[in-house]
Amino acid sequence: MNRLTNPAHCQALISQLTLQAYQASSMASSSQNTFLLHNQSRLFDAKMLSSLHSLQLPSPARTKRLTHRGSSVRPIVASSTDVPLTTTTDPPPTASPAPKLPLRKIPGDYGLPFIGPIKDRLDYFYNQGRDKYFSSRVLNYQSTVFRANMPPAYFIASNPNVIVLLDGKSFPVLFDVSKVEKKDLFTGTYMPSTQLTGGYRILSYLDPSEPKHAKLKQLLFFLLQSSRYRVIPEFHTAFTELFETLESQIAAKGKEGFGDINDQACFNFLARAFYEANPPESKLGTDGPSLVAKWVIFHLGPILTLGLPKLLEELLLHTFSLPPILIKSDYQRLYDFFHGASGRILDEAKKMGIEREEACHNLLFATCFNSFGGMKILFPSLVKYIGGAGSALHEKLAEEVRSAIRSNGGKVTMAAMEQMPLMKSVVYEALRIDPPVPFQYGRAKRDLVIESHDATFEVKKGEMLFGFQPFATKDPEIFDRPEEFVPDRFVGEGEKLLKHVIWSNGPETESPTVENKQCAGKDFVVWVSRLFVVELFQRYDSFEIEVGTSALGSSVTFTSVKKASFE
Ligand code: HEM
Repeated sequence: MNRLTNPAHCQALISQLTLQAYQASSMASSSQNTFLLHNQSRLFDAKMLSSLHSLQLPSPARTKRLTHRGSSVRPIVASSTDVPLTTTTDPPPTASPAPKLPLRKIPGDYGLPFIGPIKDRLDYFYNQGRDKYFSSRVLNYQSTVFRANMPPAYFIASNPNVIVLLDGKSFPVLFDVSKVEKKDLFTGTYMPSTQLTGGYRILSYLDPSEPKHAKLKQLLFFLLQSSRYRVIPEFHTAFTELFETLESQIAAKGKEGFGDINDQACFNFLARAFYEANPPESKLGTDGPSLVAKWVIFHLGPILTLGLPKLLEELLLHTFSLPPILIKSDYQRLYDFFHGASGRILDEAKKMGIEREEACHNLLFATCFNSFGGMKILFPSLVKYIGGAGSALHEKLAEEVRSAIRSNGGKVTMAAMEQMPLMKSVVYEALRIDPPVPFQYGRAKRDLVIESHDATFEVKKGEMLFGFQPFATKDPEIFDRPEEFVPDRFVGEGEKLLKHVIWSNGPETESPTVENKQCAGKDFVVWVSRLFVVELFQRYDSFEIEVGTSALGSSVTFTSVKKASFE
C-alpha cells in the first residue's frame, strides 16, 4: 500500500475526489443538477467510484469536514526551494533552508522505452481520457506530484518524460524563470516547425534570457496600448453583429451554435481594434477564422483528438508532424492581410530594432494564435458556465450591469465596469474553473526541491516540469467547493483568492513584464471577457443553452434568448 508522507494534506485532495464522487452519484437522479453533474462526471465514472471506495477513505461526514471549510484564504508562499549551489552533486535534502515537509521520492515511472510513452499516450487520449489520466494517478500514487509521459512522444517529441504538478502549491514554480527555462516549450514537449511561422521562432517560444524576447514582448505591449481606445466601440460593433445573427437564426431554426459566429466576431474585432482593418472588406473576406483553425491544427494536432478513427488520428496527428507545405498558401493569405494592415505597428517595430518581416509574423501569431485562439476557447466557456448557472444569476448580472451603466451616464466605460463586482467575479471564476490554456511546461534550470502540500521532492537540473492547470486551480486546499462554478467567489474578501487564479501563466495579482513569461495579453483578456458579459446582459435578461464538447473546449448552442425587459 502507498505510504502517505503527510496524510492530512494529500488526503484532502483524495477526500475531495471522494466527495465529488458521492455528490455525482447522489445527484444522478436530479434533472435540475445536470449541469453540475456533467462537469463532475467527466472525472468520475463507475470504475473510478469503485477504485475510490477501495482506498478505504474517510466517511462522507469526515470528508465534508475536511473540504467544506469556510472561505478562509490559505497562505501559500513557497512552491519550491533552491538546492544550495554548493551541493550540486548529491545535495543533502535537508540542507538550509530546511524543508518543513518530509522528503519523498517522486512516485511513478516512465515505463519501458518506447512502449511506456505510447501506452501513456493511448491512456491519455483514448483509454482513460485527459482528466482521468491525471486523477487516477493521483489516487494510485497518493501524490499530486509524480512522473508520467505526456503526448505526443515518438516521433514528434524526442523525450516525453515529465514530472507532473497537480496542486496549487507546486504549480507556481513554473512561473519562476530563475528556476525554469521556457525555451521552445509553448506547446509542450515538442516544438512545431518554424516553417509554420515564416521561419521564425516566435515570441511565445522564447525564454526571457534570449535577447529578442524583451523586444518582441515590448512590441506587443505597444500593439495593445495603441489600440486601447478602439477596444470598447469595436467590441460593441462586432458583438452586436453576432447577437443580430444569433437572434435571426434562433427565430428561423429554433437554435444557433455559438462557435462559428463567435469566431467571426472575435476575428473581426481583433483586426479592427488592433489594426483598424476590416477583414470582410479585404481579400480575406470571412475566411480568417477557418484559415486560422486549419493552421492551428498543424501546431496543436499532436496533443489534440479531433474525433477521427483512433488509428487514423494516431498516424496522422500523434506520430508524425503534418507537413507545413500543406498549409503554406493559407498562411500566406493570412500573412498578406496582416502585412497590409499593420504598417503603423511595423514602423514602430523597426524603431525598436525588429525587422519588419519578423515583426509581422509575430503580430500574426499574437493575433491569430494567442488572442483569437484564446477567445475561441474562453468565450464559449463563459457562456457555458453563466448559462448553466441559470436565470437567477442572469437576473442579478442584468441588474448590476445596467445599473452601473446608468450611473455612469449610460456609457460602458472602464469605470462603470469597476462597479460590477459580480460580473468581474464571474469572469475570474470561469478562468479559474476552466483555464483556456491548461498546460504549462518548464525545464529545471538547476537542481530544485519542489513542495506540494504534503511533501518535498527533489528535481534534477534538466528535468521537465509539467503543470496541468485545471487541477491546480481546483485545489481543495485553496478553494472551497473547487469543482463548482461559484459566481460570487471573488467578490469582497474573495478577492484575496485572486493570487491563485493563474490562467495567464502567473497570478492574477501580478503583471506581465519583458522579464517574465506571463501572458502579454493578460489584462486585455480580462477586459474583453468583461465586455462580453456586459454586452450579453445589456441585451438579454436571460438565455438558454445546450452544451457539448469540441477539440479545443466547450461547444455551446443557444436555444433561446430573452430580450432585455428593463433598462
Ligand atoms: C483568452 C486569451 C488568452 C489566453 C487564455 C492566454 C494564455 C496564455 C498562457 C497560458 C501563456 C503562457 C504559455 C506558457 O508559456 O506556458 C500565454 C503566453 C503569451 N500570451 Fe497569452 N493568452 C491569451 C491571449 C493573449 C493575447 C490577447 C495576447 C496578445 C495580444 C497574448 C500574448 C501572449 C504572449 C506574447 C505570450 C508569451 C509571453 C512571453 O513570451 O513572455 N495572449 N498566454
